[in-house]
Amino acid sequence: MGRAFVYVVLGGGVAAGYAALEFTKKGVPPGELCIISDEPFAPYERPALSKGYLLPEGKAPARLPAFHTCVGANEERLTPKWYKEHGIELVLGTRVKSADVKRKTLLTATGETISYKILIIATGARALKLEEFGVSGSDAENVCYLRDLADANRLVNVMQSCAGGNAVVIGGGYIGMECAASLVINKINVTMVFPEAHCMARLFTPKIATYYENYYVSKGVKFIKGTVLSSFDIDSSGKVTAVNLRDGSRLPADVVVVGIGIRPNTGLFEGQLTLEKVGIKVNGQMQTTNNSVYAVGDVAAFPVKLFGETRRLEHVDSARKSARHAVAAILSPDKADDFDYLPFFYSRVFTLSWQFYGDNTGEAVHFGDYSGNTIGAYWINKGQLVGSFLEGGTKEEYEAIAKATRLKPAVEDLAELERQGLEFALTI
Ligand code: FDA
Ligand code: NAD
Repeated sequence: MGRAFVYVVLGGGVAAGYAALEFTKKGVPPGELCIISDEPFAPYERPALSKGYLLPEGKAPARLPAFHTCVGANEERLTPKWYKEHGIELVLGTRVKSADVKRKTLLTATGETISYKILIIATGARALKLEEFGVSGSDAENVCYLRDLADANRLVNVMQSCAGGNAVVIGGGYIGMECAASLVINKINVTMVFPEAHCMARLFTPKIATYYENYYVSKGVKFIKGTVLSSFDIDSSGKVTAVNLRDGSRLPADVVVVGIGIRPNTGLFEGQLTLEKVGIKVNGQMQTTNNSVYAVGDVAAFPVKLFGETRRLEHVDSARKSARHAVAAILSPDKADDFDYLPFFYSRVFTLSWQFYGDNTGEAVHFGDYSGNTIGAYWINKGQLVGSFLEGGTKEEYEAIAKATRLKPAVEDLAELERQGLEFALTI
């Protein structure tokens, strides 16, 4: 049993949705494109899962079909009907269990062989499990991870069953910070536990982290830093009742949310394509070491021209733009420039909202009022501005820091930069 397509996108997440839109904008005829996803839904904007999706009933939580791609970039909303109307085959709820890049075939768990002329790998990533760090209990019914809609539904159900109760959030990264805020909004008492000295250690400086931690403390969140969990207490019904930490403390828990990082889904291609930075290595056209195979989104390690380095980014803007770039490169190989991407990360929690552009290497120069509403920082590496962070900015201010970061201006006097603060970006 088998079907053949010109283009196959493997994975049905953010990158797949944006790739589909780009294919239709470029006029690919009906019947040529197929998207295969093990999720039972058409591609959706994954960032909604830790924000609007977790709002309490009274606050109109986001639900499909409202957040199908590509609404996150103010583009068309691609519902299952849209794919049908455009002759795009959506193969949903179907896991691909093996791939043969020499034969150009994929084998699904339902036993179907799907062949392609061009493959775009958009398999994203999976959440790391506590078991990978030597702790068991992940399958307890009130331990929640958050990667897909099924996880989000589970978290919503557990939250609804324990209003007024206690949550332990394991991990101080994006999932930890955004879920902690959502739990508070759902009137659950939150303790965050993470091994680093401050939250968002991969991106924030201690000073920026302190700003957010103070805000969270003002909302009732407790922080336990510099330690990790060692075990769960689990009752006879299979529910976690407490979290035991390596420092000896014990935290009662009605819900546990775990956000301890991700691993790109590269398994199908190991031994067939070159890997780098635990992702699939691609060139500036998003093309892998096999020229019929492209990779985009969380799974792709691509050259970031601005830094002269290969990076794998785990953010939605990169997924959207890398997908579009791959499609443009596939359809017009002679015209496509190399992907020239300015890394962009953002988050929204409570009434706070920040954006970051570029790279957080070198020395950080902070600006703004760290006891007020607008704070920021620049990173200066080898005499050049390479990264910018801003909380509470206006559209124009965010555009200004993005532009400044792309220009990589020379900065000699750090004290003067600190004095100018946001003005530096606004007047460049
Ligand atoms: P994505 O994970 O979206 O899609 C991969 C798809 O492939 C999934 O549908 C998966 O099931 C499928 N798949 C994998 N293996 C398969 C197989 N063998 N067979 C079939 N299907 C397979 N970023 C940001 O910049 N700002 C934000 O606010 C957020 N917020 C956020 C919240 C939450 C809860 C998460 C989990 C993530 C974010 N992100 C984010 C990150 C962002 O969502 C992420 O970078 C993109 O979703 C990556 O898009 P991809 O298409 O690469 O993977
Ligand atoms: P992360 O990499 O942001 O954070 C992982 C955190 O895990 C670390 O900060 C650390 O505190 C913690 N940790 C590591 N090892 C641990 C251990 N043994 N025990 C306890 N804690 C440990 O990853 P995440 O928060 O899990 O997010 C998953 C993915 O989702 C990332 O790719 C992220 O980019 C994406 N995401 C992004 C956004 C956003 O961009 N706004 C929002 C949500 C999720």
